[in-house]
Amino acid sequence: MKKKIALTGDRPTGKLHLGHYVGSLSSRVQIQEDHSQFVMIADAQALTDYAHEPKRVSENVLEVALDYLSVGIDPKKTTIFIQSLVPALPEITLYFLNLVTWNRLKHNPTVKLEIQQKGYGEEVPAGFMIYPVSQAADITAFKAEVVPVGDDQLPMIEQTVELVRKFNRLYQTDVLIEPKAVLSSVARLPGIDGKAKMGKSLGNAIFLSDSPDEIAKKVKGMYTDPGHLRVEDPGKVEGNPVFTYLDAFAFDRAKVEELKAHYQRGGLGDGVVKKYLLEVLLSFLEPIRKRREELAKDPSHVMNILFEGTKVASAVAGETLREMKRSMGIDYFAH
Ligand code: TRP
Repeated sequence: MKKKIALTGDRPTGKLHLGHYVGSLSSRVQIQEDHSQFVMIADAQALTDYAHEPKRVSENVLEVALDYLSVGIDPKKTTIFIQSLVPALPEITLYFLNLVTWNRLKHNPTVKLEIQQKGYGEEVPAGFMIYPVSQAADITAFKAEVVPVGDDQLPMIEQTVELVRKFNRLYQTDVLIEPKAVLSSVARLPGIDGKAKMGKSLGNAIFLSDSPDEIAKKVKGMYTDPGHLRVEDPGKVEGNPVFTYLDAFAFDRAKVEELKAHYQRGGLGDGVVKKYLLEVLLSFLEPIRKRREELAKDPSHVMNILFEGTKVASAVAGETLREMKRSMGIDYFAH
C-alpha cells in the first residue's frame, strides 16, 4: 500500500519550544514511521509579517532545522525543506488567488485575530492577508492528506479544502487532494506565566535549546496557584502550569498523582513540586540539547540536509503544478 502523505510547517521566527514539542514535533516523529512526510520551514510565510526583519527569518532557518533534527525528525524518513526555494509554491498560490474572494479572506478567523493582535487595522500587508492561500498551495503541492496542526490552523485547512474542491470542479479534474487536519491529542501547553499559550515572542517559553541554568531559572519563576499562599493551604491543580507540564513530561504517573493529591490537600510547597518538575524537564531535554549542540558544530551539514530535501520537494511540487496547468489548459509547450 502506498503511504499517506503528511505535511506541516513552521515559521522560522524563533527557536522552537516545549509547546511545539507537545503540539507537533512529537507527533511528527511518530508520523514519519508510516507516512511519507514533508516538513517545511515556512520562511516565505514568516516574511508576510516580518518583511522588515529578514535576518531574523533567515537566521532562524538553521535554528529550526537544528530543533527538528535534535528531537528525532529523521531526514532519511522526512523531507525537510525551505519554502522560499520551491518556485512552484508561489505559482500555485497565484492560480488559487483567482478562486477565492477578498471577502472570504477577510473572514478567516485566525487571520482576523492575528490582524488584531498585531494592530494592523486597515494597514495589513496584502501578503499577510493572503497567507492562507499560500498555505493551501503548500499543502496541495505535496498532495498531503494529513496535516497535523494545532486548532488555530483549522481555518487554514478549511480554506484549503474549499480551494481544492473549487479547482477540481472548475477544471474538471482530480489532481488536487483534500487534506484532513489531524489535531494533537495533547492539550496546548500554557506558558510559564500561566497564559494559555506558550509563544516564541511572548517571553513565556522554555526552549528546546535552553541551558540547564536557564531552565532552572524559568521553572523557579513559574506561575502556580496564586491562592496557594502558605504551604499548609490547599492548592489548585487545574490551570496550574507546573502540573500541566508534569502531566505532559513526567513518566512516573503515580508520583504525579500523589503530588497532585498532596498539593490539593495542603501541606505541599510549590518549591517541592517545582524541584521535581525541574528534574523531569532536565532529563527530558538533556539528550535533545546534547544532540543539538553536536549538530550545531557543523551547520553546513545541516544546511546540506535542507538543500537535499528542497531538491526533492521542488520536484514533487513542480510535478503537481504541471498537472494543474494541464487541467487549466495552459501547458502550452508541454508536448
Ligand atoms: N501557519 C503555520 C504556523 O504558523 C505554518 C505553516 C505554513 C503550515 N505552511 C503550512 C502548517 C502548511 C501546516 C501546513 O504554524
